[in-house]
Amino acid sequence: MRQHPQNVRVFVTGVNGYIGAVLAPYLLERGMALVGLDTGYYRDGWLYSDNRCQSATPHTLNKDLRAVVASDLEGCDAVVHLAELSNDPLGENNPRVTHQINHLGSVALANEAVRAGARRFVYTSSCSVYGAGSGEFLDEDAPVQPQTAYAECKVLVERDLLQMAGPGFTPVLLRNATAFGPSPRMRFDIVINDLCALAWTTRRIAMTSDGSPWRPVVHVADICEAIYRSLIGPEDALRGKIFNVGQNSENYRVRELAQLVADEFPGCTVSVGSSSADNRSYRVSFDRIHRELPGFTCRYTARDGIRQLRELFERIQMTPDTYQFRAFTRLKQLKYLQATRQIDAEFYWR
Ligand SMILES: NC(=O)c1ccc[n+]([C@@H]2O[C@H](COP(=O)([O-])OP(=O)(O)OC[C@H]3O[C@@H](n4cnc5c(N)ncnc54)[C@H](O)[C@@H]3O)[C@@H](O)[C@H]2O)c1
Repeated sequence: MRQHPQNVRVFVTGVNGYIGAVLAPYLLERGMALVGLDTGYYRDGWLYSDNRCQSATPHTLNKDLRAVVASDLEGCDAVVHLAELSNDPLGENNPRVTHQINHLGSVALANEAVRAGARRFVYTSSCSVYGAGSGEFLDEDAPVQPQTAYAECKVLVERDLLQMAGPGFTPVLLRNATAFGPSPRMRFDIVINDLCALAWTTRRIAMTSDGSPWRPVVHVADICEAIYRSLIGPEDALRGKIFNVGQNSENYRVRELAQLVADEFPGCTVSVGSSSADNRSYRVSFDRIHRELPGFTCRYTARDGIRQLRELFERIQMTPDTYQFRAFTRLKQLKYLQATRQIDAEFYWR
């Protein structure tokens, strides 16, 4: 069954995060009804106000993912699940809590969604499940090689969701490339956003690594489009499907990304180092999503996103303090919340 957007009520977890803050207006503009959920770890950080995006905000439950029950999802047809500890360093910081939230919390949410009668579950997985690749193009059938607790949890959630797939429940698994581009709930801990902020505030990108690893990247709005298409596409065609989200031309070596950024920020220099501490490297094929997710195309390249970020930094006159502000770097903010005893050892608010 193909859904008409006007008839879809979507439960969006992590709605106050980097992707969620772009996704909510994106789905609302297309006529969907939303209910949000977020515990608000990064609510201290808001980079810019764009009134167009604020004209409507979804009703949002201020609640931990691990406490969700079926009645929270009452009346919802679909779930988009974003609320996790959202990168490798966060996962390594506390693998135990990462498993609790990212693996167990996500699967519990899916079970509550089934109990509540939600028929579709769009999961934001990650291309980092491919781990240490050799530079060959990896498609969705390539073996996964998670290198971190974060990526391991993505693999476990995918496995468990696939087991739940059936006529009444359609999980769609989106393995997103690393996102970039403006979001009010900004992250400066993802590669392009970080490089752009560095270029803007210091005019100098000095990499300690040799910048050789491959990274596929995708604009945050193109992730939103993939989610939207996953919500409205035919259930039978999408049930249990895994899609890499991005486009083939947007696989770059990190040093190429640094050069693209330097080209857009006048006077910015780039230097590369010699170490290669980070062995995560993957080059990804995005053929399937363009072939099999009806209506999906990517609209933006890395160069487009870099230009948008430069224009944004100019417009808001972004300062180095803003770039360094803890809430824009997920690990810094969580460490701060722990050190100031605002969250406990299990990452629940005190
Ligand atoms: N941004 C990327 O490059 C990227 C790439 C691939 C996959 N993803 C995935 O997409 C999802 C969203 O990513 P993002 O960049 O928006 O991350 P984010 O950290 O900006 O947002 C995550 C949101 O979830 C909330 N959250 C976290 N734990 C929670 C809990 N226990 N209960 C309730 N809310 C909780 C946080 O408060 C935050 O608002 C994540 O699952 C991430 O792994 C992101």
